[in-house]
Amino acid sequence: MDTGPQDGGGTIAVAPMMDWTDRHCRVLHRRLNPSLVLFTEMVTAKAVLFGDRDRLLGHSEEERPLVLQLGGSDPGELAEAAQIAAEWGYDEVNLNCGCPSDRVQGGRFGACLMREPALVGECLAAMAEGGLPVSLKCRLGVDEQDVEPALDAVADAAVAAGASAIWVHARKAWLQGLSPAQNRTVPPLDHDRVVRLCARLPSTFVGLNGGIGDEGAVRAALATMDGVMIGRAAYQRPGLLAELGGRHGLASGAHRLAVARSMVDYARAVLEDRGRLAPVVKPMLGLFHGEPGARAYRRTLSEDGHRAGAGADVLSGALDALEIARERSGPDLEARSVAA
Ligand SMILES: Cc1cc2nc3c(=O)[nH]c(=O)nc-3n(C[C@H](O)[C@H](O)[C@H](O)COP(=O)(O)O)c2cc1C
Repeated sequence: MDTGPQDGGGTIAVAPMMDWTDRHCRVLHRRLNPSLVLFTEMVTAKAVLFGDRDRLLGHSEEERPLVLQLGGSDPGELAEAAQIAAEWGYDEVNLNCGCPSDRVQGGRFGACLMREPALVGECLAAMAEGGLPVSLKCRLGVDEQDVEPALDAVADAAVAAGASAIWVHARKAWLQGLSPAQNRTVPPLDHDRVVRLCARLPSTFVGLNGGIGDEGAVRAALATMDGVMIGRAAYQRPGLLAELGGRHGLASGAHRLAVARSMVDYARAVLEDRGRLAPVVKPMLGLFHGEPGARAYRRTLSEDGHRAGAGADVLSGALDALEIARERSGPDLEARSVAA
């Protein structure tokens, strides 16, 4: 896939996140910033083979470039799933070697694959048979592993298998005793370890993930890395994604408002297709974080947006109220919101 640079250099991706980066969330992110690389939530290879493909794989053209993240460790299943991903119009398939949940460990995939670099290589090589570029998302290591050899071994296996990108969540995963949520906060971040990997593999794309939550941190990371992947900050403060659009003027509050307004029609189409409003507005809750009217906007969407039969007018009404609050707060709002 073309992981071409954003303005200012370097690729910026939004991380795969279960229960967040569904198709509605990806449409919002794409409209906020046309240059981002977007990822799906993790889908297991088995689910791709045997599940409801419309629900699991359905996406719109505007979400592209779009990477399907697969979970699994059976090369045959992964090869078939990657082939199906190509048929469904994805741009790349990514192997999850970072998820620590018990369910995933039971299936012998996710972060526990950090102990099995040869199998990681086999899986990626099998996925490449589908014809799409393949990439890896991994941790520094797991449990008592030494992160120097552990990460190098998995990365080398990925390179040998032809992976076009390696994204590293810059902390270990503890497979026993920590919940998935704790595994995103408790093991300490070690960005330098990923910087060393990037320097060691000059002809492979290496991207940094973990704890990167503002524009300064993104720009600083891109000085030494090929790419940066943003996780939780993308749903806590989606406006960040627009700010990262660089010189296209995407940082303005007017751009965010226009994107939010465009989601009203999008919501109408989803509702006509028997969908619900709540998942459409969920990734929009933090869009005006810290600005006049943001609290009422958020409350309206989270309370009224969940009511049975909620229509797109809930979103348009929340935006009308937000605009009135913005006007009342004076003409210098735009300057303040850009600087924030
Ligand atoms: C709610 C949630 C769901 C996640 N689901 C996935 C997933 O499906 N696949 C994956 O590789 N990582 C998943 N992650 C991990 C993120 O991709 C990312 O590596 C992690 O949040 C660290 O980045 P951050 O500090 O920028 O949030 C998830 C994280 C969160 C918070």
